[in-house]
Amino acid sequence: MDYLLVDDRGICEEIKVPDREFSNSPYRLYRFLNDLEDLLASISSDRDRLQAICPLVQRLLTSSYWLQVPEQPPDPELGWSVQMLYDEPFFPLTVQLVAWLPGIASPIHNHGAWGLVALISGKEKNTFWRRSPTVEFPGKIERVGDRVITAGEIVTFMSDTIHSIEALGDEPTISFNIYGETNYEQRFEFDLDTMSAQIF
Ligand SMILES: [Fe+2]
Repeated sequence: MDYLLVDDRGICEEIKVPDREFSNSPYRLYRFLNDLEDLLASISSDRDRLQAICPLVQRLLTSSYWLQVPEQPPDPELGWSVQMLYDEPFFPLTVQLVAWLPGIASPIHNHGAWGLVALISGKEKNTFWRRSPTVEFPGKIERVGDRVITAGEIVTFMSDTIHSIEALGDEPTISFNIYGETNYEQRFEFDLDTMSAQIF
């Protein structure tokens, strides 16, 4: 499995994770959340956190077949659906199953939080951007590159990473997503035409 990290300059690199042997016992969602909470308490760097979370996600998805299919197919009007698996007030973590219809593209955005997207099925083009502000246009960005993510890959983001996604192929994409605590004052959508950034 490939683990990728996209930094806040839009550079995509592979994360090296040592091979680990997992027991064959089921890895239930509540145990995964326990491990995640312990890990977040003991590691403060988002980059190190993401590196440590990747193998846990791989173990969870390998163990839990019920996570392979979302309860809700993508909404035909919106083009996507979100099934919240975990979201608790006053705890900085959300876990979701997300589905996108083929051909649907997202706005260009950052999340204001670290994030992890494990693609379970389908194919998704991720385009990476970085800020290139001018005095006149402080919200101006420029494209850095792109990468097609396929099922079995995990891509992780820092809180200021800017990306846009497009579901490719003939079938919906399904992904398992985790986000840290969102800083809503630092979460933006970017408009290429007006070269501006808007909080969303
Ligand atoms: Fe995103």
